[in-house]
Amino acid sequence: MIIALNNKCNLTKQEFLKYQEELGKISTKNKVILCPTFLNISHFDLNNVELGAQNVSSNEQGAYTGEVSAQQLQSEQVKYCIVGHSERRKYQQETDEEINQKIIRLLECNIVPILCVGETKEEREKQLEKNIIEKELKKALENLTDEQKEKTIIAYEPIWSIGTGIIPTNNQIKEMFQTIKQLLPNNKVLYGGSANEENVVLLKEIEEIDGYLLGGLSLKPEKLKVFIEKLKN
Ligand code: 13P
Repeated sequence: MIIALNNKCNLTKQEFLKYQEELGKISTKNKVILCPTFLNISHFDLNNVELGAQNVSSNEQGAYTGEVSAQQLQSEQVKYCIVGHSERRKYQQETDEEINQKIIRLLECNIVPILCVGETKEEREKQLEKNIIEKELKKALENLTDEQKEKTIIAYEPIWSIGTGIIPTNNQIKEMFQTIKQLLPNNKVLYGGSANEENVVLLKEIEEIDGYLLGGLSLKPEKLKVFIEKLKN
């Protein structure tokens, strides 16, 4: 199982150093990937955890104020990077075309993209959820070789479930995972959206799930530990 932790825009340097100490105490055979803010990347110091980022520039380098390139991430030993998170699509108006460019930049630097896809509440009400994620996947992975596509980890994150405490039913999740796996049978697929130490008992019944992308829970090491223990049992 892959457990990816998306800290989002949280934790000052001091808070991160303390948090990291707590995280370091969690022992697990799962692959844990920590995606801190860009600034906290340089303070990363854990052996049992792999390093990820939350975003990357779609450009290689140059006059792009405020951006961070894939090469710079690579030079900090970043091995994974979230792309196309719904919060970036919404607040930074990130497009499928930019997301595609970001994935290409990451693969050039041997960084594994974690591509987020998912539908809004309105889209699900109109039964458009499968069309939406198929479109997002196709556009984000356009012009990639099969080998490049397979390296990409997909995270299904229904937008209506992120940070809301509401999770889809197991059947709803299964259907979406099957849709993704029909298109991309060899890719790892994660679930993200209000996953926690309580609902993990239900979620782990879904055999299609290869791991989780955790937001809120990533900031609570004690509860994260319980989540990981329950996953195992
Ligand atoms: P929550 O786990 O807080 O719902 O966030 C999920 C998420 O957006 C991870 O990328």
